[in-house]
Amino acid sequence: MNKTTILTIKAAKNRQKLTVFTAYDALFARLFADSADMLLVGDSLAMSFGGESDTLSTTIDEMIYHTKAVCKGAPESFVILDMPFGSFATEEIALHNALRVYRETKASAVKIEGGEAQVKIVQRLTQNGIAVLGHIGLLPQHARASGGFRVQGKDEEGAQQIVKDAKAIEAAGAFAIVLEGVKANAAGEITRSVGIPVIGIGAGRDVDGQVLVWSDMLGFFEAFKPKFVRRYFDGAAMARDVAARFAADVQSGAFPSEEEQY
Ligand code: KIV
Repeated sequence: MNKTTILTIKAAKNRQKLTVFTAYDALFARLFADSADMLLVGDSLAMSFGGESDTLSTTIDEMIYHTKAVCKGAPESFVILDMPFGSFATEEIALHNALRVYRETKASAVKIEGGEAQVKIVQRLTQNGIAVLGHIGLLPQHARASGGFRVQGKDEEGAQQIVKDAKAIEAAGAFAIVLEGVKANAAGEITRSVGIPVIGIGAGRDVDGQVLVWSDMLGFFEAFKPKFVRRYFDGAAMARDVAARFAADVQSGAFPSEEEQY
């Protein structure tokens, strides 16, 4: 049984690496629950499930639907809903949507993309009893406005801005931060600059934990493979092979067998 709480997550800093998986449905949430400290219902579902080229089309209704499913599959897990593009455009909109998340799902927290610029939003949510996971560095929701998915913290100025972002989000009340797509040496400095856990994705080893998108980890997502992704399984090849075997069995009449019919 997974006993993760806000307190155990914070206490893990400098003690124990945190493992986070994305999950979008009950089936995989159930499979990952025993190994995960947290399950993140990421807006990456637009890309890995929805076939989109970025995450911007995801809606709060879609996120709530998928989060309900994840919470049903892994009822003991610490589940985080990723607030999608536009769902925290103002403090009022953010509070309205985050309250919906807490009322309509069993999520333990929400994730907000952005550093210093989102301080007021993070404060407003945490002051209203909503736990917030920050997300700084590469911001996928800014991909269109900033010219794509670009590694951050490449020079001293860029790294120092992310340090400021981390400190601002911590001061605003976040319990942990996702740090995405940042040079490894900058990530180490950013991680050491705050007292809350920093969960890396494409941010090297010198962080407090790692998150991977499940369809990358299992090798189902083939459109592209970022350098930081480790595919632990060749899911795409396996699924194609199984589909071809099923089709062949249907065509030859080998499926169903005597034992597989009523
Ligand atoms: O949407 C997502 O899956 C995420 C992870 C990349 C951290 O935000």
